[in-house]
Amino acid sequence: APWTATVLTLFPEMFPGPLGHSLGGKALADGLWALGTVDIRAYARDRHRTVDDTPYGGGAGMVMRPDVVSDAIAAHHAPDSGRRLLYLSPRGRRLGQPLVRELAAGPGVTLVCGRYEGLDQRAIDAWSERGGLEEVSIGDVVLSGGEPAALVLLDAVVRLLPGVTGKTESLDNDSFEDGLLEYPHYTRPRDWDGRPVPDVLISGHHARVAQWRREQAEAITRARRPDLWAAYAESEG
Ligand code: ADE
Repeated sequence: APWTATVLTLFPEMFPGPLGHSLGGKALADGLWALGTVDIRAYARDRHRTVDDTPYGGGAGMVMRPDVVSDAIAAHHAPDSGRRLLYLSPRGRRLGQPLVRELAAGPGVTLVCGRYEGLDQRAIDAWSERGGLEEVSIGDVVLSGGEPAALVLLDAVVRLLPGVTGKTESLDNDSFEDGLLEYPHYTRPRDWDGRPVPDVLISGHHARVAQWRREQAEAITRARRPDLWAAYAESEG
């Protein structure tokens, strides 16, 4: 079976969304990965198909019921499948290329998307303890739900799967792969609006191009990301 994502959500129509286009969409059509969605509402227990309720203790917003969400997870996540079970939440472990690479190396993921104020804490606790659920955040921003975060995570993983990204978009040059932000890119026209392409890139001198790009990558990383720069400077000695 190809690398497979199963997404549990109240909005299955949001998928594949952007993942149906470009690189990931072609790969999806070619069977290089598979995507399934599960409508959490299908696990509601009452006539009104209730999936959320008001928070105990009061306050704004709605909380997703633990019984409904837990039933949905139990029906679609096999803990022995080797697939990671991830709950998208701003309180989670920060997503970065290390986690993305780990996920791409495995058989797939089950993603739980919350809406409203999120999921009842008992469902998070229960599945953390017995099902290995991990909370993952895409960054220090608050989204209205986990779905866009799931799309971001899947986009990052899918482009690393074998056969998805071609040689021309070589992954080795990616920002972060060598601990630096990427160097600037240029294409035709050679002169645009009084702005010439840097001479070194026209020179045809591969070693000088490589050195210039490294210097550029280092300069932009030092200026914009002191945290990355410190780690890089450390590792380079
Ligand atoms: N849901 C809402 N905000 C989120 C974030 N920053 N990361 C993951 N899931 C979220």
